[in-house]
Amino acid sequence: MAMADFTCTTSPLLLYPFIILILFISSINHHFHFFPCSHSHSHHSPSNDNHPPISPENTRNIFQPNSNPTPDSDVVVDGGRGVEKGKKKSPFERMEEGLARARAVIKAASRSRSYTSNKVERFVPRGSVYINSHAFHQSHVEMEKRFRVWPYREGEPPLFHEGPMADIYSIEGQLIDELVGGKSPFLARNPNEAIVYFVPISITNIIRFVYRPYTNYSRDRLQNIVKDYIGIVSSKYPYWNRSSGADHFLVSCHDWAPDVSAADPKFYQYFIRVLCNANSSEGFRPAIDVSMPEIYLNYGLEEPPKLSRESTNRSILAFFAGGAHGDIRNHLFAYWKEKDVDVCVYEYLPETLNYTQLMGQSKFCLCPSGYEVASPRIVESIYSGCVPVIISDSYVLPFSDVLNWSRFSVHIPVVKIPEIKKILLGISMEEYLEKQRGVVQVQRHFVMNRPAKPYDLMHMVMHSVWLRRLNLRLPLPPPP
Ligand SMILES: *[C@@H]1O[C@H](CO)[C@@H](O)[C@H](O)[C@H]1NC(C)=O
Ligand SMILES: *[C@@H]1O[C@H](CO)[C@@H](O)[C@H](O)[C@H]1NC(C)=O
Ligand SMILES: *[C@@H]1O[C@H](CO)[C@@H](O)[C@H](O)[C@H]1NC(C)=O
Ligand SMILES: *[C@@H]1O[C@H](CO)[C@@H](O)[C@H](O)[C@H]1NC(C)=O
Ligand SMILES: *[C@@H]1O[C@H](CO)[C@@H](O)[C@H](O)[C@H]1NC(C)=O
Ligand SMILES: *[C@@H]1O[C@H](CO)[C@@H](O)[C@H](O)[C@H]1NC(C)=O
Repeated sequence: MAMADFTCTTSPLLLYPFIILILFISSINHHFHFFPCSHSHSHHSPSNDNHPPISPENTRNIFQPNSNPTPDSDVVVDGGRGVEKGKKKSPFERMEEGLARARAVIKAASRSRSYTSNKVERFVPRGSVYINSHAFHQSHVEMEKRFRVWPYREGEPPLFHEGPMADIYSIEGQLIDELVGGKSPFLARNPNEAIVYFVPISITNIIRFVYRPYTNYSRDRLQNIVKDYIGIVSSKYPYWNRSSGADHFLVSCHDWAPDVSAADPKFYQYFIRVLCNANSSEGFRPAIDVSMPEIYLNYGLEEPPKLSRESTNRSILAFFAGGAHGDIRNHLFAYWKEKDVDVCVYEYLPETLNYTQLMGQSKFCLCPSGYEVASPRIVESIYSGCVPVIISDSYVLPFSDVLNWSRFSVHIPVVKIPEIKKILLGISMEEYLEKQRGVVQVQRHFVMNRPAKPYDLMHMVMHSVWLRRLNLRLPLPPPP
């Protein structure tokens, strides 16, 4: 991928760090410090590369927030060529104009703290669990109107077009199925209409089928399959090259998924990886990649049992039960395993006790990272109305461009594991009740429906991709 080919003349894409990033992304982790400070500004530029396609300064010149008061000033997208009056616009021009309008409407909604919609809104997000509920609401409305995905058709199951539908990686298979199943309202009718392109690869199935029997854990085979697939679709269609992959995404919950791009980081510089394993110390890029929750679908799509007690009737201060997976868990066990009446930590839950019931009886549920950062406990905790206590250091939390996690969870850095009890007892009843209400409020954003419904888990994942697409502007293709 020769980026230098177009750096000076037409940039392959323009980023919008000063519009949407301000609305949504700039606040990620600033209060939580989920990743080291050195990373906290990296979202202002797409990479640490020495030759970004356009510098933030250039973008600021093109799009000074205060230089032009008309909200539509960002619609001018002609790459210096100019669109002749009366000439019929190409689908590409119409799409970029639509996105420009969406940006303007979202900004306006954020300013006026209201919204515009041409249909009845059944749910209106409001409250402090959102970083900017007005911008989020309008953005969701615009997404429903304009977000269109083209899933590439190339390739055969089981490595392509299907993934695991149950168990710990289920979100991968369910999302692939939602997008290739032909029923999603977000599907484009043809690839020219799409604003993003879905690379329908199941990393989990590659590991399951290609690495069987396990002779070694070398990532080459995984990397080659992904690279070959992208090679095929990028030579067959113009879309990958047009954006250097910036409007392309894949979805995977497997621990190894971040490694797909490790062999050639430059090639994947702008590619959106939607991952459960969102570890910012292992190359997860909050402004480009998307963090999605891990969710344990034991029984397919059945509702989780509703065993949660009133917030005022939870007798256990903190609860955890789970395997000794990884250093953080070992550290937790060393201090707390079956040692305290208030902080109830088990490796193996005694048969007389019921996991789901205990979560429903606890004020706080400990969610330490396991072998990798994500844990299905976070979602289980939210379902049971238990305030999640996230014990991890470089985990970029799902949907954190929209949700203010500090309003409905507690973060305890790994080094503070010995102080868990002191920290949790230090949270006043009032503050706890506020967080607990926040948990109940965000539940809808973590529920998986098939087909997906507005504001549910899948829409939240789609919205995360939508936001990243909204943050870039593609140049006009050369005239035919
Ligand atoms: C998130 O909530 C905390 C309070 O819990 C607040 O201090 C912080 O400013 C909020 N962050 C954003 C981005 O709104
Ligand atoms: C891993 O195994 C594959 C298939 O057996 C083989 O092609 C590859 O060379 C091996 N890689 C390493 C690093 O041993
Ligand atoms: C996209 O770029 C690659 C590498 O430069 C090239 O091989 C391929 O033919 C291009 N695709 C199209 C559709 O032109
Ligand atoms: C607490 O919840 C349990 C189980 O739902 C119920 O039996 C009990 O009466 C509740 N106690 C109070 C004080 O509400
Ligand atoms: C836990 O309790 C709930 C309701 O009481 C029940 O549905 C569930 O099967 C129990 N789980 C186990 C593992 O016994
Ligand atoms: C995140 O990545 C860092 C760097 O590789 C690693 O040391 C750490 O263990 C990872 N976190 C988890 C919870 O796996």
